[in-house]
Amino acid sequence: MPSQNSPIKVGILGATGTVGQRFIQLLAVHPYFTIHALGASSRSAGHEYSKIVKWKLGTEIPEHVKGMVVQECRPDANGFAECGVVFSGLDHDVAGEIEFAFRAAELVVFSNAKNYRRDPVVPLMVPLVNPSHLSVVNHQRTTLSPPTKKGYIVTNANCSTTGLVVPLYALEKAFGPLETVMVTTMQAISGAGYPGVSSLDIMDNVVPYIGSEEEKIEWETSKILGGVTSDGQGFDLHASDPIKISASCNRVPVIDGHTGCVSVKFKRHPPPSPEQVIQAFKDFRCEAQDLGVPSAPKRAIVYLDAPDRPQPRLDRDLENGACVSVGRVRPCPVLDVKFVCLIDNVRLGAATSSIMNAEIAVERGYIEA
Ligand SMILES: NC(=O)c1ccc[n+]([C@@H]2O[C@H](COP(=O)([O-])OP(=O)(O)OC[C@H]3O[C@@H](n4cnc5c(N)ncnc54)[C@H](OP(=O)(O)O)[C@@H]3O)[C@@H](O)[C@H]2O)c1
Repeated sequence: MPSQNSPIKVGILGATGTVGQRFIQLLAVHPYFTIHALGASSRSAGHEYSKIVKWKLGTEIPEHVKGMVVQECRPDANGFAECGVVFSGLDHDVAGEIEFAFRAAELVVFSNAKNYRRDPVVPLMVPLVNPSHLSVVNHQRTTLSPPTKKGYIVTNANCSTTGLVVPLYALEKAFGPLETVMVTTMQAISGAGYPGVSSLDIMDNVVPYIGSEEEKIEWETSKILGGVTSDGQGFDLHASDPIKISASCNRVPVIDGHTGCVSVKFKRHPPPSPEQVIQAFKDFRCEAQDLGVPSAPKRAIVYLDAPDRPQPRLDRDLENGACVSVGRVRPCPVLDVKFVCLIDNVRLGAATSSIMNAEIAVERGYIEA
């Protein structure tokens, strides 16, 4: 852990956006990191943060951030050169080039965009599931062009993927490989960023389509739940034990919190009973908790023993939005067991995961304090 006197200077890319604002809120007081530079589009660059941002959180903009001048997202822009790490809340249409440039300039980049998630040397890391994937950055530094000494990119998963893989990982840990997963999501409007879905499209409505979301869940789950190859240079994508996954994604008029209705078939026969599944959720512990990093939740999975939970409005703030809550565990007449899961899409689904990934990287010596 870095000493109190030397917090690591960090930049935030996309600092004015939905995810960027959460980064600022969560990093305002942090034992490892201090906010040193803010980046956004040329529309915002050159303006004081508080004058240009449409702040949407229920807490005030941190005092020391209010007067910071937003920069263009370039590693040579004011402030970024002194940073060791950048947290990126950039849209995918600009994230690719910008994040690449920061990596090339020897910064460590924690991205929320989809651009590098499928890259064979970029960890797709859910901090409550697969911190072991971080080791592949050693190979990334030497093989991805340009080679770097310090810089690398780590990506988060898609927010609804994260809400799904945490309970799936708990089940695999307890009962072995899964055969089939069916998930239907009900996803919050904040997942589309700001201003996102127009109110005329979402009020009094459900939109049964979110562009490329189903493919992301179906593909990313296997990379996350798979291991690192034996040579340490990539990811095995769960290839020896493939999981059949089918996702159906819907946008619903909820502000924050993605809900998933999940059915699972296990490879093992007989499958675990619902009671055993509940116990596995209650017993689940992960490496981030064992490492004791500051953003790790006390409970990574919160099991709610009530017939009508989890619900976004009631449960998204559990563990400061850093856990997945689950409930309604029961037999599935088609597969084996079904349950409901809920994630705060902007915290554990985005900003909190990036921050926890960075904390793990510090603890493991992948970021120099
Ligand atoms: N929202 C979620 O729940 C969620 C969850 C997981 C992952 N993600 C991912 O996180 C990323 C950000 O999502 P968001 O919801 O925060 O989006 P958002 O609210 O639309 O914010 C986008 C940010 O990108 C900046 N930006 C736009 N164009 C730019 C450019 N040309 N150069 C530099 N900066 C530019 C914007 O700055 P200006 O204000 O100056 O335009 C803003 O700060 C996306 O890749 C998204 O897929 C989002």
